[in-house]
Amino acid sequence: MIIANWKMNTTRSEAIALAQDVRSISCRPSTKIGICPPAIWIDAVSNVLKGSPVLLGMQNCIGDPFGAQTGCINAEMAKGAGCQLVILGHSERRARFSETTEMLVPAVASVLETGNIPVFCIGETLAERDSGRAIEAVVGQLKPLLNAGLDLDGLIIAYEPVWAIGTGHSATVDDICIMHRTIRAIVDRPDALVLYGGSVSPESAGTVFSSTEVSGALVGGASLNAEKFAAIVAAWEQN
Ligand code: 13P
Repeated sequence: MIIANWKMNTTRSEAIALAQDVRSISCRPSTKIGICPPAIWIDAVSNVLKGSPVLLGMQNCIGDPFGAQTGCINAEMAKGAGCQLVILGHSERRARFSETTEMLVPAVASVLETGNIPVFCIGETLAERDSGRAIEAVVGQLKPLLNAGLDLDGLIIAYEPVWAIGTGHSATVDDICIMHRTIRAIVDRPDALVLYGGSVSPESAGTVFSSTEVSGALVGGASLNAEKFAAIVAAWEQN
């Protein structure tokens, strides 16, 4: 599965044009492509994707039911807008809005309740890696979710080391392998989908995808260019 996270990018017309280009990427039926535009363009992008196998996703939601929550969107709204995926716990939200896994448990639960797929992001900072605490940090971000007693069937995990995001330096295959293996062991699901995210580009994709531990990618910057995104999809299919 290759998922595009457009983050806070694209005007309305750019979003529509980019979605049209992504829709026309040819790939095998077994290769799942998803795009997560800014929430405000979900409806416009949903119209473009009608009848296509490309999945649509939100970049965030909260776990609350309908009510007085100014500026928030819940899982049922995401479902109603035509989404199948919801990214949760991205490091940019953990850093900027102090989101923690404990806070995100209700959001994961509500996304699963709607039948949608949470794409749950975890990843260590550079300081944590440099001090030899990368695994501890990632496991620490997962544990509160695993301890919440939810049926996590269907959950996708995205391992995104913070220091690799937007830097042009993706993690090494060895580091990715170790982390993905650890994640699968902790969630106790050998078949869990674990995506890698962090400077995945047409140049790095072949190496990243060379590991059987990698179930796909969550792509930021390179997903804003349809040709680059298509090249990443092609690299996936060549591995
Ligand atoms: P980049 O691909 O720009 O490094 O971003 C990765 C990411 O944060 C995807 O969620």
